[in-house]
Amino acid sequence: MKLLILNGPNLNLLGLREPAIYGRETYEDLKTLAAETAVRLGVEADVYQSNHEGALVDAIQAAYGVYDGIVFNPAAYTHTSVALLDALKAVSIPTVEVHISDVSKREDFRQVSYVRAACIATITGRGLRGYAEAMELLKEHLFK
Ligand code: DQA
Repeated sequence: MKLLILNGPNLNLLGLREPAIYGRETYEDLKTLAAETAVRLGVEADVYQSNHEGALVDAIQAAYGVYDGIVFNPAAYTHTSVALLDALKAVSIPTVEVHISDVSKREDFRQVSYVRAACIATITGRGLRGYAEAMELLKEHLFK
């Protein structure tokens, strides 16, 4: 089983960006967590990040036939991107939406998620742990 851990804009700046909201752990820490979780679950995982919406669409399209599941934090594009929703719908790869912060308790403009309609679950406000939980959830879902 192969999982893609896909991250949108500014997540490469984890640790530096708004630590009161996103914590002090870095993007490298996220990569380490994903690798360790993959070993624990007996799955393969690749981690990718882009600041560009089109590159994220390309990554989703390229995932077709390669990855069995996607853990997706679209970051700010969560709240704006029909293109990412359409890409997820096109490939039909089981996807879990993840947000490090609890978006439900933040600004009004963060209350909309376009991608959510194409996701099997959403995990918010669990910090980086949310990624590990999403990987567990996908493994359970795919082995059913
Ligand atoms: C985020 C929440 C988004 O609203 C924000 O734009 C991000 C990160 C999160 O992980 O909490 O960049 O997706």
